[in-house]
Amino acid sequence: MANSGSTVVLGIDIGGSGIKGAPVDIESGALTAERLRVPTPSSPEAVAEVVARIVEHFGYEGPIGCAFPAVIRRGVACSAANVDDAWIGTDAADLFRQATGQPVHVFNDADGAGVAEMVFGAGRCERGVVLMLTFGTGIGSALFVDRKLVPNTELGHLELNGRRAEPWAATRARKAEKLSWKQWGRRVRKYLRHLEFLFSPALFIIGGGVSRRSEKFFPYLKLDTPITPAQLANEAGIVGVAYAASRPESFDDCGRVALSALPQAL
Ligand code: BGC
Repeated sequence: MANSGSTVVLGIDIGGSGIKGAPVDIESGALTAERLRVPTPSSPEAVAEVVARIVEHFGYEGPIGCAFPAVIRRGVACSAANVDDAWIGTDAADLFRQATGQPVHVFNDADGAGVAEMVFGAGRCERGVVLMLTFGTGIGSALFVDRKLVPNTELGHLELNGRRAEPWAATRARKAEKLSWKQWGRRVRKYLRHLEFLFSPALFIIGGGVSRRSEKFFPYLKLDTPITPAQLANEAGIVGVAYAASRPESFDDCGRVALSALPQAL
């Protein structure tokens, strides 16, 4: 699958347990082939081999978007909350470029998912301040101001009542502590209330696996801000980074992505 001015771009989402990749039609946001999932090895070099394997599997040539669960500055991973510490200081973009022979652009995973929602999903009609949170092993965040991404906000690591929010309110905590939806929903509420106070967003978008079960915990949230589940579910990361990688002119060195204006009909 060669890419020369084509509308199909490969997106790869590197998570704590799995690496998922698929070609994406960046006009519609749809995957054009079934996604491939490979378990995540720990070392950066082994992950690069998996990335290369995914590229080979799809016979793809062209720009690649990669989502990674860490602070990403100019392609370099600067944190490692739920991945091997060896990633800190690793130039992930360069490593993957060398492994695949293709141009690779790396973004924080929640930022990638946020881009997908702002272009194709729950945020596509929104301007102003929009905050997307992803709940999974960790809590990821993507902040948009007038359709411009403020990257690497890492709001999962905010302190709340003297403790870090992520280990207390992520999906992992709900499962590990066997919390009821109500108990967990109250924690999420406290967390979102705090974010509401800090940012006064126009909209919260809730992503991650729980976005498909929003009816279980949304009733316990009771916020002043409108809140909506993400629409692209587990594919958001892949779709968002493929979309961003297809438009290098839309992002700068610092990972700020400027999304196009709202659709004309709105
Ligand atoms: C990481 C973030 C990431 C989030 C979701 C957090 O632990 O620090 O970079 O976006 O998990 O994967």
